[in-house]
Amino acid sequence: MDHLILIGFMGAGKTTIGKLLAKTTDLPFIDLDERLEKELEMSINDYFVTFGEPKFRTKESQLLARLSQTSGIVATGGGIVTNPQNRLLLKEAHVVYLKTDIDESIQRLKEDTQNVRPLFIEKTEVQLRDLYLLRRPWYEESAQIHIETTGKTPHEIVKEILAKEKES
Ligand code: S3P
Repeated sequence: MDHLILIGFMGAGKTTIGKLLAKTTDLPFIDLDERLEKELEMSINDYFVTFGEPKFRTKESQLLARLSQTSGIVATGGGIVTNPQNRLLLKEAHVVYLKTDIDESIQRLKEDTQNVRPLFIEKTEVQLRDLYLLRRPWYEESAQIHIETTGKTPHEIVKEILAKEKES
């Protein structure tokens, strides 16, 4: 294995797991959101506010197209599966879906004081739950490996990903 893409809802731990996985496998780590912020020269939240979500999705999709087969561990933003073209790209790549239940995701999002997420700010809890339900089948169809992360430590999750990756 020399490339792997992590997908999942906001708060699923894609960045945390991605970094640990990269360290364990000695592969480079690429955070799509972080890379986008560098390329856009502004935070994702500012970009959303200034240009709107559709423009953000276009930029996000262009970056995924460039990085979908790159060597390394790639952590994506939770909305990457919104675009059908992205889902097709993901199906052809090596993708792991980090499944976290919505209650744990919301709890983590509330506790995360470092990242400003425009959709988390603007949506009510009911709307977030609806978004989760809308996206869930898209995550499921886009990834070959599904990992339940609720209640597990990052080390346990990484171990499980590597074991499943070996089997596949
Ligand atoms: C988004 C998730 C965020 C970020 C942006 C939009 C989404 O990434 O890309 O705020 O639509 O779910 P994380 O999943 O890393 O929070």
